[in-house]
Amino acid sequence: MGRILITDFMTMQTVSSGGDGEIREFLMTDEDFAQIARLAGELTGIVLGDHKRNMVYSRIARRVRAYGFTTFRQYLDYLEKNLDAESTEFINSLTTNLTSFFRENHHFSFLKDTLFPQLKFANKDRKRLRIWSAGCSIGQEAYSIAITLRQVGFPSDWDIKILATDLDSNVLDTGRAGVYPASHVEGLDAALVKRFFLLSRDERSVQVKDELRDLVYFKRLNLLESWPVKGPFDIIFCRNVVIYFNKDTQRILFDRYADLLPVGGHLMIGHSENISGITDRFESIGNTIYRKVK
Ligand SMILES: C[S@@+](CC[C@H](N)C(=O)[O-])C[C@H]1O[C@@H](n2cnc3c(N)ncnc32)[C@H](O)[C@@H]1O
Repeated sequence: MGRILITDFMTMQTVSSGGDGEIREFLMTDEDFAQIARLAGELTGIVLGDHKRNMVYSRIARRVRAYGFTTFRQYLDYLEKNLDAESTEFINSLTTNLTSFFRENHHFSFLKDTLFPQLKFANKDRKRLRIWSAGCSIGQEAYSIAITLRQVGFPSDWDIKILATDLDSNVLDTGRAGVYPASHVEGLDAALVKRFFLLSRDERSVQVKDELRDLVYFKRLNLLESWPVKGPFDIIFCRNVVIYFNKDTQRILFDRYADLLPVGGHLMIGHSENISGITDRFESIGNTIYRKVK
């Protein structure tokens, strides 16, 4: 895809075209894009194909602007020299954090009607439950699990923890605060919202109640690196995360999840993700629901 440079004679600033007729504020060359893609792969496992060029431009342009640089090259030189300080912002810019409460609701119906009642019985002597939301984004997946747990109702002397992890430090801050625009709960059942959320005075935002926040522990964790987590888990949610990774990274991840689950433990993945042909350590027991077999 060719890039052309255009001089804006009003400001005498050189701008670039994205190759699609769109005039751009900063120059991003093919080499710049390749370097961003390589760094993203190394740091996060996220694969940035050529079709992600425009997305990458608009997200990284914010960082270029923040430093007052005029080209991507200047920013990338700075990033390479200051990786410790800037890599978090670079990573935060590239992650896709799309999520919602009760997204892919069949998982929560399965928890409510089948799995939690089963675990209530299976773990009755241990009185312990561990769930991991890996790639939790702003925490709505973990809080949806927490709501379902409260709805099913476990005895108060059980030791229950939901670990919510992500690589992006900004989304973790939002998750910890548990404050969201009121529009995020609009589609949910009104009685559920009343029970589990506090509405702000101006009615523009909601905060999850402490009975949910008490269950969820947020932690920064890069799935490509070592995992300072204590298993075993009963259930792992890793939904709409591995879709950004290549197959080899997916295999390594699924195997590591299997290592942290007992035989019979469950793994939930996203609607466009698939385990079959990648690892044989899980069997499918329903729509994107898997059980560890070995
Ligand atoms: C699309 S969101 C999915 C959120 C939630 N699981 C859901 O399905 O609604 C993907 C999340 O994965 C996180 N992520 C991407 N690469 C990661 C990595 N290497 N380690 C940990 N989290 C990662 C992103 O920061 C992002 O918040």
